[in-house]
Amino acid sequence: MKSLVTTSHLSRQELEGLIDRALRIAASGEVEGQALKGIAVATLFFEPSTRTRLSFELAATRLGGDVVSFELAGSSAAKGESERDTVLTVAAMGPEILVVRHSTDGFPAVVQEWTGRAVVNAGDGSREHPTQALLDAVTLVRKLGGIDGLTIAIVGDIAHSRVAGSLMNVMPRLGAQLVLAGPEPFLPRGHGFGVASDLDEVVAVADVIYLLRVQRERGAKEGEDYHRLWGLDARRAAKMRTDAVIMHPGPMNRGVEISDEAADGPRSLILDQVANGVPTRMAVLAALAESLS
Ligand code: CP
Repeated sequence: MKSLVTTSHLSRQELEGLIDRALRIAASGEVEGQALKGIAVATLFFEPSTRTRLSFELAATRLGGDVVSFELAGSSAAKGESERDTVLTVAAMGPEILVVRHSTDGFPAVVQEWTGRAVVNAGDGSREHPTQALLDAVTLVRKLGGIDGLTIAIVGDIAHSRVAGSLMNVMPRLGAQLVLAGPEPFLPRGHGFGVASDLDEVVAVADVIYLLRVQRERGAKEGEDYHRLWGLDARRAAKMRTDAVIMHPGPMNRGVEISDEAADGPRSLILDQVANGVPTRMAVLAALAESLS
């Protein structure tokens, strides 16, 4: 694997290879030797992040790599430097791997063209967030033993969600059935998955309720009754199957798509997802390091 800008071309075998590698790291604390020794990773975040940036930086450090970190706030972009000049400036310092987040769809692929470096998409606009879907797969395998045959309900602002973009590529390829649920303006077009017009319909049957934040920064706006209609509250969580689980990529808007009881209750895997981000990103970085010429 030379870069990871999209999940659209990853085969089931490639996905399982990355997931298995992450599972081995998670289970044994194995650090893949010093897979990134002598290799520098630059995290280039043009949008805010807590989970993704910190876990990539921790993953690279645990693999023996060097890390440099660019964040828009406090950078020379405030003096008028263009995004292309910013990217080329960071690349000129020599990092072999660039981890890129940006509000524009496709920006990581553009960075790859500009620099010729290995690029990991850490979230582009409303399009994809590949390592989020991978760490979610790792979380489900660790908690439920596998993904084949699971029914996963993705609920909320799906149209604006890059997490959903990657989940819709990855999970069906691993054998899951997806059901989308949300108000009509939040549903994407032309996806081919089942749609539930009522959250209570899917809550009772799904193995996984995967909630998404309303992406207000991308122009989405929820109605006043959103939590009542589409939020997972304690009443709805009580209707879930006894073995079903709750997921959310974070950050959460508590009281909007999810209640405190659902977020913090025993079915919630939300902090497991965060924890699995580190071994998953270690697996991705180690795979990229093997492909560096
Ligand atoms: N899930 C996710 O991408 O979180 P951050 O925005 O905190 O990185």
